[in-house]
Amino acid sequence: MSDSPRPKGEPRFPDGPQPDPAGSHFDRKIRSFQPRRSRVTQGQADALQRLWPKWGLDIDGQRTLDLPELFAADIPVVLEIGFGMGEATARMAAEDPGTGILAVDVHTPGQGNLLNLADRAGLSNIRVGNGDAIILLREMLTPGSLAGLRVYFPDPWPKQRHHKRRLIQPEFLTLAASRLRPGALLHCATDWEPYAEVMLDVLTGHPDFENTQPESGYAPRPDFRPRTRFEGQGLDKGHVVNDLLFRRVPLDTDTSPH
Ligand SMILES: C[S@@+](CC[C@H](N)C(=O)[O-])C[C@H]1O[C@@H](n2cnc3c(N)ncnc32)[C@H](O)[C@@H]1O
Repeated sequence: MSDSPRPKGEPRFPDGPQPDPAGSHFDRKIRSFQPRRSRVTQGQADALQRLWPKWGLDIDGQRTLDLPELFAADIPVVLEIGFGMGEATARMAAEDPGTGILAVDVHTPGQGNLLNLADRAGLSNIRVGNGDAIILLREMLTPGSLAGLRVYFPDPWPKQRHHKRRLIQPEFLTLAASRLRPGALLHCATDWEPYAEVMLDVLTGHPDFENTQPESGYAPRPDFRPRTRFEGQGLDKGHVVNDLLFRRVPLDTDTSPH
């Protein structure tokens, strides 16, 4: 259905996610993702049409989010950037119903898939964001509003000339830190060892984060993180997976214990 011809200018999913919702209003020339036109199955298309108005969020950068209102509950909210097809996200949401997961990606089939998984499992603690997570962090989330941040298997951008596209960089960490509440966990995982080394380096050097594993650097995979699809592909290729678990260091002005 999704690939059938439609009149020019007509939206792909009238009630679903908008293409590039932030448009060109924001200065994001170097993006951490590759825009791709992907095949959407009938089931995914149906989910996008049916569930987007309920659980979808276009990242247009035009308004500040009220997270308790978005989740219809005053629960801690964790942002997951780049959920792919969303299987791990749905599992984590099912295992921790008291936490809201704001799951963001630009990948339309994955958005449909995650909506379907959430619907079938009767989950009410997932919201699906469509667009660039940087715009979401910068323009739409208020300081200290997030209880955690998950970045699982971000695109490794292995070529030197593409390293500038990598998500985990000092400026990103400064932005992320400003949206995380003191004590919040930043959890990253990657199967690309050179990227893991860079992550460890920039996170260790960043004043707003401290390593929960100062001895070993990397963390053992915590039980709460299921194996992701991308991770499985990496393991099949013999890649080594590294988890990094850092804590948002309390602000100087904040005297609460941690
Ligand atoms: C390599 S995939 C990993 C997917 C999933 N976490 C897994 O492990 O199977 C990385 C995902 O991050 C998404 N992504 C990259 N940069 C992003 C950004 N700035 N905002 C939203 N999604 C992003 C990509 O679209 C892609 O789906």
